[in-house]
Amino acid sequence: MAKKDVVVGARHVAIIMDGNGRWAKKRHLPRALGHQRGVEAVRRIVRGARELGLEALTLYAFSTENWRRPEDEVSDLMGLMKRFIMSDLDEFAAAGVRLKIIGDYRAFRPDLVELIDGAVAKTAANTGTTLAVALNYGAQDEIARAATKAAALGPITAESISAQLDTADMPPLDLLIRTSGEVRLSNFLLWQAAYAEMMFTEVLWPDFTVEHLREALDDFRNRERRYGGR
Ligand code: FPP
Repeated sequence: MAKKDVVVGARHVAIIMDGNGRWAKKRHLPRALGHQRGVEAVRRIVRGARELGLEALTLYAFSTENWRRPEDEVSDLMGLMKRFIMSDLDEFAAAGVRLKIIGDYRAFRPDLVELIDGAVAKTAANTGTTLAVALNYGAQDEIARAATKAAALGPITAESISAQLDTADMPPLDLLIRTSGEVRLSNFLLWQAAYAEMMFTEVLWPDFTVEHLREALDDFRNRERRYGGR
């Protein structure tokens, strides 16, 4: 059977979780509440990803550009991440989820870095779904770091750079979803997206449900992937 005829499910899905602010604005609520509802969506989508048998889920939680947001919003986001890890880590650990961070999270507050390191260590041996959270992540920065490492080891090739990306130990990216109607990649997984399918939905991130994820996966299964062939 030719590669394009093989209809398989997605192994690795990545999501640009966008629209928390607009969700709150529509309801005349503070932005912080939109982010709080965004965390609830993270929780249900991680559970859903496990139940749907995904090998890997990568979530764009904080970009290198997000530092430009007002200080209180950055601090809100950090607080939410901290509380999320503290409240959900045991469930992940028990469910076999392996937590992984992509991006330079060491620029975060020391207490958060310590908590993240502990959470990553606690789940490192898990063999279920890998949850990669992108923190202080920018794809151009990731590619530059990977190319620097690759150059120190030998000739630079597509393979040698791929092997040094933050996602090197994950399956290839199959499907990239962005919520809230924006149609751009915003410096997320630029290298990994080379052959990924893309889906853009109007749904705002706090409203994104497991049913939306299931529909996206069904749609993915029905797409014909050619990988540059015919
Ligand atoms: C985009 O909404 C969302 C973010 C910049 C942050 C995403 C973070 C979370 C969902 C919460 C923390 C994550 C974890 C993993 C616990 P926006 O503020 O850009 O929305 P807008 O474009 O409508 O203003």
